[in-house]
Amino acid sequence: MTLQERDYEVIWHPFTHQKNRLPPIPIVKGKGTLLFDEVGNEYIDAISSWWVTIHGHAHPYIAEKLYKQAMILEQVIFAGFTHEPAVALAERLLPILPNNFSKIFYSDNGSTSTEVALKMSLQYWWNGREDSQPLTEERSDNGKRKAVDGKRTKILAFKDAYHGDTFGAMSVSDRSVFTLAFHDKLFEVLFIDTPSESNIEELKNTINSEGTAIAAFIYEPLVQGAGGMRMYDAHWMNELLKTVKQHDIICIADEVMTGFGRTGKLFASEYMEERPDIICLSKGLTGGTMALGVTACTDRIYQAYLSDDKLKTFFHGHSFTANPLACTAALASLDLLMLEDCFNQIEWITEQNIAFAKKLTTYDLRLTIKNIRTLGTIIAFEIAEGKDEYLNNIAGNITQKALDEGVYIRPLGNTVYIMPPYCITEEELEIVYEVILLMLK
Ligand SMILES: Cc1ncc(COP(=O)(O)O)c(C=O)c1O
Repeated sequence: MTLQERDYEVIWHPFTHQKNRLPPIPIVKGKGTLLFDEVGNEYIDAISSWWVTIHGHAHPYIAEKLYKQAMILEQVIFAGFTHEPAVALAERLLPILPNNFSKIFYSDNGSTSTEVALKMSLQYWWNGREDSQPLTEERSDNGKRKAVDGKRTKILAFKDAYHGDTFGAMSVSDRSVFTLAFHDKLFEVLFIDTPSESNIEELKNTINSEGTAIAAFIYEPLVQGAGGMRMYDAHWMNELLKTVKQHDIICIADEVMTGFGRTGKLFASEYMEERPDIICLSKGLTGGTMALGVTACTDRIYQAYLSDDKLKTFFHGHSFTANPLACTAALASLDLLMLEDCFNQIEWITEQNIAFAKKLTTYDLRLTIKNIRTLGTIIAFEIAEGKDEYLNNIAGNITQKALDEGVYIRPLGNTVYIMPPYCITEEELEIVYEVILLMLK
């Protein structure tokens, strides 16, 4: 049996419609920007394998560090124990994060990093409630004790947001085809539009009227990834954050996708003067090599947990919290990211994207495209054909055609985008642009 046939028998792939599914491509090797399949085809990974692989595949520097760490310590429980890679990574991250954060809380992926942020914020207000007694003895219908908290219980989030696939993360993500089956199980969230000149006053009014009930505001700074690579303006976001902060609302920047150079700065939050109280990181954190999540908080948040009352403990953790191999990969990835070369590459991709965006408007294309936009290493546009929705056939068709040409892209519905590893070569990037043009001509 081939690998594909064996896969078909035993595996259920993520985000994949099961009936009439296409056989997955067996990848046997990765090197730099390239993925190699079983029969010798190579593909340029133009979306960094779901936005994680910032330095390219199988990077020898990261691999070497991982090997050495694997021979020393591969995993250890992180409650009551610690280890060098976790401490070194926290020491390394804190000075470069886009605010004066005081503590790093580890988890193991992007969704868990946002779950942690939400729980950390809600409990911040719960810990600080006025009747700071142990849980109020109120009984729910099934007789179990339930918590009664203070006034701040609402979460504010953006329409079209995506913060992950676990229940809390789904709750603060826009209601979409991703969440349809669970709507009655998701907690209520106040969803607002992303800010612009035309709606900023309205948004401020909403926040001014709801402000004292809102515990936290979670947002993807400047680019809403899975929602369709929607980009919004830093100036108006800064204005919005100012109002949010006036109400003491905890600001959670979900930089799972935008972190580590993706938008042209180390973190997208750096485009705004108003900085988050909590930041969520994953994906590029380990250079896309290992699963790891980070939720960093400012001292204001941390102080709410420093109490004699044991009920004010943050009861959260995962088996693989701060896995030593993942922390080692993150340290190695940071070594590479901080090289001047890497930032030169990011700048170069940024310029190439801007030039390609301009060029795109000059062609006479078979397919109509709209909303061409770029930020840092990301370029996106919509194909104005068929229905504007995630489940149309455009994505599948384009993915297949591009694969036939040796490029891997994975449109979000009719939104085509590229987000390459920073090590992409001039020749490879040119091929990616050419293949995109070929799809449209
Ligand atoms: C902004 C953002 N937050 C959270 C997540 C969830 O991350 P993970 O897929 O690692 O759970 C994603 C994933 O795409 C994301 O883009």
